[in-house]
Amino acid sequence: MSYRVAVIGTGTEPDDPDEDGYAMAYHHATAYENHAECDLVACADIVPENAETFARVFDIDDGNVFEAYGKLLETVKPDIVSLCVPPAVHDTIAIDCIRSGVVEAIHCEKPMADSYGGAHLMAQEASRHGVQLTFNHQRRFSDAVRTAKGLLDEGAIGDLDRIEFASPAGIFDYGSHSFDLCNYFNDEIPGDWALGQIEYGEENILFGSHNENQAVVLWEYENGVSGLGTSDSTDGRGPTSAVSCHHRLIGTRGTIELGPSGENEALPTLRIRRAGNEEWEAVETDDGLHSWEFIDRAIAENVRCLETGEEPELGAENALNATELIFATWESARRRGRVDLPLKIDDNPLEAMVKSGELTPSTTEDE
Ligand SMILES: NC(=O)c1ccc[n+]([C@@H]2O[C@H](COP(=O)([O-])OP(=O)(O)OC[C@H]3O[C@@H](n4cnc5c(N)ncnc54)[C@H](O)[C@@H]3O)[C@@H](O)[C@H]2O)c1
Repeated sequence: MSYRVAVIGTGTEPDDPDEDGYAMAYHHATAYENHAECDLVACADIVPENAETFARVFDIDDGNVFEAYGKLLETVKPDIVSLCVPPAVHDTIAIDCIRSGVVEAIHCEKPMADSYGGAHLMAQEASRHGVQLTFNHQRRFSDAVRTAKGLLDEGAIGDLDRIEFASPAGIFDYGSHSFDLCNYFNDEIPGDWALGQIEYGEENILFGSHNENQAVVLWEYENGVSGLGTSDSTDGRGPTSAVSCHHRLIGTRGTIELGPSGENEALPTLRIRRAGNEEWEAVETDDGLHSWEFIDRAIAENVRCLETGEEPELGAENALNATELIFATWESARRRGRVDLPLKIDDNPLEAMVKSGELTPSTTEDE
């Protein structure tokens, strides 16, 4: 099978990534180039020079470079679209691609959408139109993550009791990966309730959307496993972090840590402490927790599922579970109470609290 691929939102400078732009499109494009079934044939960006540079790098014909993505869909009729635009427009563009009737699969960057209603509608429309909709929670494809899940599944720490994570500030931005990995470890079981609190004193706009400065969230899944997540500007390494670990899996007979921090910098990516043994054992893994190669693996898996008709693990339903926990945390802060799930809101509680003046983060202009 061969697929014609288009990228919407190309970005500018992949060698100098920051929260103003990672140019994720370049990583998606490299992954498609590595897959013989995929032919990257078109791109669109509202900034024409971004699209033109991207087209030169990836050898896209001049006639297939667009400013308006609608024109791209109409002219090129791509089979697969990678969506690498800011979160605020994920839902609108994904839904337009779905409703165009020409696109078979969309691989959209995380976080899903900047409102819970938008995220829901994307998933609903994809399902209604039979379009494969996936989100780039590529960290699942790290060998360290897979090895940790393998240890958990073989009972190396007994039954899973609790999952913990520490994220950089922004449970919407980085936390989208953090919650998604928790759900992966807990076999995609939905959440039952969440209780969260946040600090938002200084404006923190990541990829165009508000993100809190600090958060703590406690939640429980429907199978009784509990979760504890924190976010702060020290990436979980500072004194305010209760977790100090990228992810910790606590079982009835031991603990697994991914990306432990706090004691010294020489800690392994993955380690396990088994019941009856005080010592941590380092577990060898082929790679760490961060690599653009994971996008290659994610896209390969999406293409495989497109061919077989299987539901990809990066599919909208799993992404929605992570999105629900993100917005439930912010909703809990808004309500000052526990939020029972399923979550019944459509907006973005953090954005709404800023708009209403309930939260007044300072900006550099205030200084
Ligand atoms: N998976 C990850 O680990 C990871 C890492 C960084 C960023 N991201 C996500 O990737 C997404 C894109 O971020 P980025 O850093 O690549 O951004 P970027 O700014 O580098 O690129 C986005 C591009 O989209 C274009 N754009 C904006 N609105 C558009 C529209 N309506 N139509 C067409 N083009 C439009 C912009 O002009 C820009 O060129 C975000 O959702 C971000 O959260 C994911």
